[in-house]
Amino acid sequence: MSIDVAVIPAAGRGTRMRPATRVVPKALITVVDRPAIQYMVEEAARAGAKEAIVVVDLDAGHLVAQHFSIEGPLPGLEDIRVRPVVQEEPLGLGHAVSAAAEMVADRPFFCLLSDNIVRPGQDVLPALAEGSNDGATSVMCLREYSDEYLTKYGFVVPTSDVKDGYLDLGGAVEKPGPDNAPSNYGLVGRYLLTPEVFSILEKTSPGALGEIQLTDAIDELGKRGRLKGWIADTDLLDVGSPAGLVHATQELGTRGVDS
Ligand code: UTP
Repeated sequence: MSIDVAVIPAAGRGTRMRPATRVVPKALITVVDRPAIQYMVEEAARAGAKEAIVVVDLDAGHLVAQHFSIEGPLPGLEDIRVRPVVQEEPLGLGHAVSAAAEMVADRPFFCLLSDNIVRPGQDVLPALAEGSNDGATSVMCLREYSDEYLTKYGFVVPTSDVKDGYLDLGGAVEKPGPDNAPSNYGLVGRYLLTPEVFSILEKTSPGALGEIQLTDAIDELGKRGRLKGWIADTDLLDVGSPAGLVHATQELGTRGVDS
């Protein structure tokens, strides 16, 4: 299944990165030699996307657009068009994704959280695309986590055994905690979503933290029987917190961002 569009939500408050994010949007914080957002656009381009829709707040749109266009296209990004779209208020990740609905229209799309960078040589998007061979099934990137993470991420409901890294899913729960966790397979910030998710998000009420949660819409996709997971071999690097940013900078700086 070839996927030609990617949505990159980057309009969060960035409170963990204060004071750096008082003026500079989190997506434009430098990691080694380029802003964080460039890593996601590069990753989407490597997976064959021709269009990257970056969801930004009111202030960041022109900066993001300028970064990708100012002296002509960046090397390696000649074939991908970067289009900012504004999320007027940070009402949650699900709300951010729905801001891209009109631009995505009826296409399946990759969704890449801008807090996470894949390790060099460890792309996950091709495996997600391969898992959705009919284009009607959404495919979640997963990692197996220890119990301490059950209050931090969304966790999925498996409905089959794992075969070649893939499994069928019946739903997902945001930050379930040890008592309600349906499994130890957590969502890690890379998704292949079918456009069906937009109509679900329209009807999704605010959940955990009063935000419109993408996990609640993913849960509905599972209940409709059109959800799979793929278990990644390695973690993604986290650039949404100071400690994560230091670690990611060391890792990418040592190995080389382009390796
Ligand atoms: P996070 O909740 O981790 O990002 O959202 P945040 O809100 O920026 O983080 P802190 O806790 O305040 O530091 C995960 C992803 O979803 C995007 C974020 O930009 C990040 O890529 N997001 C989140 C939005 O685009 N809009 C939102 O309303 C919320």
